[in-house]
Amino acid sequence: MIRAFLFDMDGVLADTEDISVTIGIEYFRSIGINASYADFQPNLGAGERVFFDRTASALSAERYSYDDASAYFRRRYPEIIERADVSLPGAAETVKMARSAGIMCAIASSAPGWKVHDNIKAIGLDDQDFDFIATGEDIKRNKPEKDIYELCLIKLGIDGDEAVVFEDSAAGIMSGKRAGCRVVAMMTTIDGEKAADAGADAVISDLSALPRFSSAAEADALIFSISSEKAGVAYGANMIIPGKRLLSDPLIIERMKRAAAKARDNAYAPYSSFKVGAAVLSAATGRIYSGCNVENSSYGATICAERNAITTAITAEGVIGIDIIAVCSDDDPPAPPCALCLQVLAEFARPDTLVVLFSVSGKEMHYAFSQLLPNPFVFPTMRQ
Ligand code: THU
Repeated sequence: MIRAFLFDMDGVLADTEDISVTIGIEYFRSIGINASYADFQPNLGAGERVFFDRTASALSAERYSYDDASAYFRRRYPEIIERADVSLPGAAETVKMARSAGIMCAIASSAPGWKVHDNIKAIGLDDQDFDFIATGEDIKRNKPEKDIYELCLIKLGIDGDEAVVFEDSAAGIMSGKRAGCRVVAMMTTIDGEKAADAGADAVISDLSALPRFSSAAEADALIFSISSEKAGVAYGANMIIPGKRLLSDPLIIERMKRAAAKARDNAYAPYSSFKVGAAVLSAATGRIYSGCNVENSSYGATICAERNAITTAITAEGVIGIDIIAVCSDDDPPAPPCALCLQVLAEFARPDTLVVLFSVSGKEMHYAFSQLLPNPFVFPTMRQ
């Protein structure tokens, strides 16, 4: 049974990497060296010493001194973090949800203690929200060694298989695995494939993608189900861990058709009189969200049923993956999503996402999403 969640800090609970790298760049500039983000990238997640020492040696920085760099960082970080919004989606909510479900929470960060405490405040939590806080000062050997996670296990009095580690770096994933924990990787700073290569049991986009749970038993079932996957599945550019389906496909499709038809009843279409209802199935939670078209006297401001269903789903769950889409209209053949809606759906759908088009008169057609939109536009930095 899961008894504890062990969180890395930077890149898992707080998005502080940009701040750290910005200060790193500032420091090297102060000793006459132009560094870039890419120079720091390989040295993230293994503590401040590695962050500065390895970057300095790769840049052949002769005037570099770790003590100076560390003092510079110590001075600048609190100034910047005070003004920055660094909370990652779902961070504080997941900690609170876990604790109210009776699951202990700890932090295992390679960063120095002062920085960890600053970060906890910056994400709207405080030290009392955690059962134990391990920092880089508590251990000699940093990640990827198992020491920091082992320390958490000892302090919490549990075994590795009773803990889930949330990590975003290859070094951190290895550290958690070596301590015998299950590791869920966040795609905040690492891509799914690299995380799986480093040994992650599951990959999710960020903590907001973790389905909700209200008891330790539910969390256990959830973590077990996502851990049995090698990694997340790509829905658009998002990696999502599909939950286990509790109903058979025909039963789910029936429910979705009912939801889409019911939503269609509420359509606001005084101009076209063309009423549409849509439903989408969230891959992670199995929940169904519906929407209807809402027209406007300025015709172009009209919102289609499909996009309303999606925005409702995102509002409820955050990033989603869509396994099935159902669209209800009074047309023959039944109306497909318009091109605009297809592009919006592509953000959260897979090529094999099932699209069920049906009409009130009973006509029904099934497509794979890729048949309707074979080549969606994907933003360059999101391409996998
Ligand atoms: N409509 C949808 O809601 N979904 C589609 O995929 C096609 C079109 C709506 C928009 C407008 O209110 C009406 O149908 C006629 O275009």
